[in-house]
Amino acid sequence: MTIKEEKSAAAEILESAPHSEPPNAVEPALLQELEELESQEQQVLCEFLKRAKRNRSVNGHIDELTVVVNGLKEYQMEGEWRAFRKINEKIAPDLHKEFIGTEKIQLKTTFPPIAEPISEVIKSRTSSRDFKGTALSFEKLSALLNYSCGVRGSMPAYNRRDITLRNFPTPGGLQCTEFYLVVNKVKDIDQGLYHYSSIKNCLELIEQGNFRWRVVNCCPQHEWLAEANAVIFIASDISRLAWKYGAYRSYRLAHLETGVASQNMHLVATALELGSCMVFGFDDERLDSLLGLDGLQEFTVLLVAVGNKEDRKSLMQEFTVRK
Ligand SMILES: Cc1cc2nc3c(=O)[nH]c(=O)nc-3n(C[C@H](O)[C@H](O)[C@H](O)COP(=O)(O)O)c2cc1C
Repeated sequence: MTIKEEKSAAAEILESAPHSEPPNAVEPALLQELEELESQEQQVLCEFLKRAKRNRSVNGHIDELTVVVNGLKEYQMEGEWRAFRKINEKIAPDLHKEFIGTEKIQLKTTFPPIAEPISEVIKSRTSSRDFKGTALSFEKLSALLNYSCGVRGSMPAYNRRDITLRNFPTPGGLQCTEFYLVVNKVKDIDQGLYHYSSIKNCLELIEQGNFRWRVVNCCPQHEWLAEANAVIFIASDISRLAWKYGAYRSYRLAHLETGVASQNMHLVATALELGSCMVFGFDDERLDSLLGLDGLQEFTVLLVAVGNKEDRKSLMQEFTVRK
């Protein structure tokens, strides 16, 4: 078959594929909601629809995703260049959250350097969901947090003298990620929910108690999380990015930053001979409410479960052929 023939065959297949037609009448319940919108809300909706229509998708339909993505995209690009031109006049927001007046647990600052060559760490990294049940050492938890997401210095920037530098790269140096921690079994640390203050290298107690099943309750089909020594929650405060990049791009950058930070943590855990696994299988609302986050300005993006690894190989590892 020539390329031309292939093209026309493909066009025929596409033509004959069933299209899901958009409903041509507004559902009565929606119609009522539309009538009840305040005039300002109607304006927002019209503005978004107008922008979405300009960039409508290939099949011409306008669904919720097209409206939000295209609406935000256009809206954002206009504002963004204005914001960029004025960035030198602005002062960056605070980049560190603090739980004032809560109990603090100072973490160690010195630990043995990681001797394992990075090539070996990368090759031996795997997701582990089997944990021994023995207590995780205080030193290893300190090393894990410090190496993977600690502060490594500071420099003047954005009209501030004290912009910290972290052990992972962050967009614009604005470090929108916050790390929360459920401690299940760590030596010398009571069970409970904590916030990791990278700038003070300490854990700030949010609530004491057994959170094993409260975490599982937010993560359907992840009962094994109850056995992890600690579960680390990576959340994003997008307001730190939004003053520079605007909402639309900040939302994307926040996820990129989490990816970078979580992989750092996964590799450091491997180098420390700990088991770890990233988890996205959670209920957003339940988890944000457990951590006390509003889910808009600050929301959970990913979990990293860590612990003393059970040597038993997971089914997946059994069948993995390492090169
Ligand atoms: C962003 C992300 C989210 C993940 N979410 C889950 C999850 O919800 N539950 C889980 O058991 N594993 C999760 N994983 C782990 C993957 O299942 C795992 O990386 C994959 O099976 C490959 O195995 P490996 O990490 O051992 O190479 C996630 C991994 C990534 C990168």
